[in-house]
Amino acid sequence: MCGIVGYTGPREAYPVIIKGLKRLEYRGYDSTGVALQNGGLKVYKKKGKVAELEEAVVGTNLHANVGIGHTRWATHGEPSDRNAHPHQSSSGKLAMIHNGIIENYAQLKNELVRKGYTFASDTDTEVLLNFIEEIKSNNECSLEEAVRIALKRVVGAYVILLMDEDEPGTIIAARKGSPLVIGVGKGEHFLGSDASPMLEYTKEVVYVNDYELAIVRPDELILKNLGNEKVTPYIQKLDIDLAAIEKNGYEHFMLKEIFEQPQTIYDCLRGRLDADAGTITMSGIQQYADQIIKANRIVMIACGTSWHAGLVAEYIFEELCRINVEVEYASEFRYRNPVISEGDVIIAISQSGETADTLVAIETAKSKGAIILGVVNAVGSSIARISHGGAYTHAGPEIGVASTKAFTAQLAVLTMIALKIAQIKGSVSNERYMHLLRELNDIPEKVAEVLKTAPAIEKLANKYKDASDFLYLGRGYNFPVALEGALKLKEISYIHAEGYPAAEMKHGPIALVDETLPVVFVATRDAYHEKVVSNMQEIKARKGKVVSVITAGDEHSRDLSDDVMEIPRSG
Ligand code: M6R
Repeated sequence: MCGIVGYTGPREAYPVIIKGLKRLEYRGYDSTGVALQNGGLKVYKKKGKVAELEEAVVGTNLHANVGIGHTRWATHGEPSDRNAHPHQSSSGKLAMIHNGIIENYAQLKNELVRKGYTFASDTDTEVLLNFIEEIKSNNECSLEEAVRIALKRVVGAYVILLMDEDEPGTIIAARKGSPLVIGVGKGEHFLGSDASPMLEYTKEVVYVNDYELAIVRPDELILKNLGNEKVTPYIQKLDIDLAAIEKNGYEHFMLKEIFEQPQTIYDCLRGRLDADAGTITMSGIQQYADQIIKANRIVMIACGTSWHAGLVAEYIFEELCRINVEVEYASEFRYRNPVISEGDVIIAISQSGETADTLVAIETAKSKGAIILGVVNAVGSSIARISHGGAYTHAGPEIGVASTKAFTAQLAVLTMIALKIAQIKGSVSNERYMHLLRELNDIPEKVAEVLKTAPAIEKLANKYKDASDFLYLGRGYNFPVALEGALKLKEISYIHAEGYPAAEMKHGPIALVDETLPVVFVATRDAYHEKVVSNMQEIKARKGKVVSVITAGDEHSRDLSDDVMEIPRSG
């Protein structure tokens, strides 16, 4: 993932772009670059975060009213100054930034090398840029035309933004499989991977679709398809507050987002769950209730954290709705030849709504007649738009790279969907349904209680911070939660961690346990609790350190553990 920003209009482009890039650093932060057009093209780029580029250009004349900027997460070529975007074409007349992967770049590069091209970087982006330049000079056509011809040969995913020294004030943009938003101001336009770089200037945005190309000038936005036909831009008014994308005094976005959870879960339930009346209202689901109930199976498709939310939902759906559920990694599903029958129901789960693997997996399933329901956070995103129905998670923008509040909001939405379907189907007793509604309604308050224990949890983190490996164990619903815990630790602390079903320990991994290994048990009181307690005893017998998440008041688990984190009883 990378972040892209563009600006054309009367303002100074550099500060608009830099501010925008800082908001998009959650998408990648191993190198940064900006290209500015003021007469000729000037490119400034550097390995490292946006702030490092800012320092490097102090004292430089950065005056320009049009520019593009990029914050990178390396895919082709190590993070370095030379691999940072923007790239310039061989002639130096074109500059381009790119988010995505050009899968057939090696083939295109061979063609160009045979024609005498040399390359200044190891990136697929520079290959595509020179391919565009080659077409432009061979056909003596405009940049727009060259981009259109080039993209017909490209296999992969991309958002590209280009500037041409010969077309001052113009940015050409195109997308397939990676997100692109264009902000429409008065006599100015903004471009971004999401709307955050433009929020303080305009709330009017256009979400560019796959296979569309945009010609963007200060007072003009032309959208075309790759067949050169004009497409009318659909301008949407955003309902996002600027405060939602600021840190509000927290040290980082992840911390801010963790602490937002009581509110985000509440926002997700608000207007849908009425615990007193015993109702759940989700129109984007209800209209497909018949098909869901009759479906042979539900397939949940997602990646990463969203995949973990799907695994938790598998337990919930099977228990409450008695419908067969399968949970698939989108990245595997899309490359298989999956057996999908008409009427299969796909639930696609995604925070960003733009994850390329999930998007392609959905397209595959949709083309085979499946019904697609999206559980998506980013309003207006690609997955939301190609789904037949579904429900937004309403967690607000998640800027932190590591998903937190989006995960809990996904669980809240998926639980509501399961409860709604179970009620319509009659697979849950009224008494249990009402009880679960009340429990769900109380979750925001209980999460707030848990967050009050943050100082104690911080002490625990300090105690175990030097361990080189961790195991996370759980059973039932808590097994995917253990997977998610391990993922968070790897991602944020760079400590190796594995998530496992607790009962699988005895089938091999227990050999790893010794006094140096902290084992985190997600061991709340549920149907599997007794079994989990015996797994704790197994770890203790091998002198492992047991750190448990337990239900408040569970003295037995507390006694067995070296350290505990308590959470309120629920369910
Ligand atoms: O936006 P998505 O939910 O589709 O993203 C999928 C994964 O890339 C994402 O959940 C990732 O695993 C998390 N950011 C990790 O914390």
